[in-house]
Amino acid sequence: MNKFKRTLITTALPYANGPVHIGHLAGVYVPADIYARYLRLKGEDVLMIGGSDEHGVPITIKAKKEGVTPQDIVDRYHNIIKDSFDGLGISFDVYGRTTSVTHRKTASDFFRRLYEKGEFIEKTSMQLYDEEAGQFLADRYVTGTCPHCGNEHAYGDQCEACGTSLAATDLINPKSAITGNVPVLRETSHYYLPLDKWQSRLEKWILEEHKEWKPNVYGQCKSWLDLGLQPRAVSRDLDWGIPVPVEGAEGKVLYVWFDAPIGYISNTIDLVGDDYTKWWKDPETRMIHFIGKDNIVFHCIVFPSMLMADGSYNLPDNVPANEFLNLEDNKISTSRNWAVWLHEYLEDFPGKQDVLRYVLTANAPETKDNNFTWRDFQARNNSELVAILGNFVNRAMVLDHKYFEGKVPACGELQPIDEQVIAEVREAVKACSESLDSFKFREALKDAMNVARAGNKYLADCEPWKLWKTDQARVATILNVALQICANLAVVFEPFTPFMSKDLAGMLGLGKLSWDMAGKFDLLKEGDAIAEPHLLFEKIEDAPIEAQIQKLKDTLEKNELENWKPAEVKPNVDFENFEKVDIRVGKVLECTKVKKSKKLLQFLIDDGLGKRTILSGIAQSYEDPSVLVGKEICFVANFEPRKMMGIESQGMILSAVNPDGKLTVISPSADVAPGASVG
Ligand code: MF3
Ligand code: ZN
Repeated sequence: MNKFKRTLITTALPYANGPVHIGHLAGVYVPADIYARYLRLKGEDVLMIGGSDEHGVPITIKAKKEGVTPQDIVDRYHNIIKDSFDGLGISFDVYGRTTSVTHRKTASDFFRRLYEKGEFIEKTSMQLYDEEAGQFLADRYVTGTCPHCGNEHAYGDQCEACGTSLAATDLINPKSAITGNVPVLRETSHYYLPLDKWQSRLEKWILEEHKEWKPNVYGQCKSWLDLGLQPRAVSRDLDWGIPVPVEGAEGKVLYVWFDAPIGYISNTIDLVGDDYTKWWKDPETRMIHFIGKDNIVFHCIVFPSMLMADGSYNLPDNVPANEFLNLEDNKISTSRNWAVWLHEYLEDFPGKQDVLRYVLTANAPETKDNNFTWRDFQARNNSELVAILGNFVNRAMVLDHKYFEGKVPACGELQPIDEQVIAEVREAVKACSESLDSFKFREALKDAMNVARAGNKYLADCEPWKLWKTDQARVATILNVALQICANLAVVFEPFTPFMSKDLAGMLGLGKLSWDMAGKFDLLKEGDAIAEPHLLFEKIEDAPIEAQIQKLKDTLEKNELENWKPAEVKPNVDFENFEKVDIRVGKVLECTKVKKSKKLLQFLIDDGLGKRTILSGIAQSYEDPSVLVGKEICFVANFEPRKMMGIESQGMILSAVNPDGKLTVISPSADVAPGASVG
């Protein structure tokens, strides 16, 4: 760290085609925020850059789906995203957007510079074209089979199943996402960035000089480099984006992955103006990209190649990319609405920002995909935040008010048990720093929690409430130490749970926090006033958790309904066989639930010749079976009689199954005499 004077933290710019969900948060924004807050506490010079990614096919597809303009889409979601980040306390120094004037100019200039330096190749090639839509197809406008893993739903820019980055023309059986048509090939010309030109520099820079990068990141880079880099198109035939600023390129825009990372630069410019060069070009600045694993190639290979082609920029020092977070064991999906949306969370759990931050950090997908469940969320709140952290702080403060009127008591001579807890706290703080320095945020959170654990155990072992009658000076020392631990907690938890930290620091009267306070035991002076304590965290009951689980179940059901398709038609039957089934109309005389059976209804039918009893497994679809009495229904008259629940069923009632599983009996559309044949 010493060779650097300042740190530029960038966070992947989320597409403004939907709100932000817990997968984004756990992968990118919560770890980046922890890191930025930690560096700020250490008094370092740091900027945290964010913004919305407002170009590209993800935006135009969403606009088309809703019948509105791309601008409508990005205006809507940029605001939702920005407000929800704010609500969670993600402490961006700037949160911009790639449709801003500054960005358009910065990205345009960047392209032009490279163009004038001769850093692009212009190539004419055959690209997929949708004749009905009258438009070239690239990126997510095409789906098809991945040539690497066989996934049938790969996109024209990437296969989400195996993570391979693709060109649209690589797809097997490509299909237009606009019309569903099979595209044709048509000639067009584009600008390509020859990544191969940077291959050996990238190899040296990553494979030799950055062996410390996370194995998942290093490994992905290595396999890319081992395959050999190819020129990559950086323009598109689209009408949404930044126009290619070159004569003769009318109708072409910059590829979204060309302009978006430049957004980090534009947003820095919006924040600090010309001073941006200090943050981007001074070798004493280090740059850290926080991203999800699907962005690795763009941040480790493509963007660095752009920066090298320019020649005046720093390369990132580290790219601590995370894996994915699943939700209740299923992949998070915006299109299937399988997500916990941040703006909804903030509404459903007001004042509980820290709980989400805590749980997402404790479950961060740092080395492998991880899972979020609502039950785990509840358990971590109740048995960790409430039972360990909140409980310790509350006990220390309540005891202080009981015995010392809310003043910090005098610390007498320390005993071994005091020395021990002080050592434990210092060790946990040191471990926490080391974990934070190496981007191991889960580990760092455990270390921070160990401070609270140590405090809890200390109070339980010392039992000051038993000593009050005999040794008040000893009680004073114990509570002094316990309160100093509380102050330590306010510091070490600031990066993770800033709302709680502020609250706690306020109750202790701590003033401005800094990381070098952590591990110290003179943070509170004798006689300092401690506020009347209130609980830092409250228990989360079953009801709100069950409501969230129900919400997800409803989503599943809705998705199933939307994806429902009628069954394939069975093999043909001839007339002779068809005729064997004797279908007739009958009139329902009685209809009741069969006792002790959930499914069965018992019908008494007038079949024109007499009466017959038929059992039918449709009880769950008829809350009140009496509504069927008097109705005419269709039944199979020659169905082999069967005994169920001790009752003989003489036929079969015909019913249709709805996609939602509900059954409904089949009735003729006009009055028919009972016994009439159906055929
Ligand atoms: N919008 C992209 C995504 O969600 C990330 C862009 S990161 C940047 O995958 F580098 F382009 F800014
Ligand atoms: Zn694949």
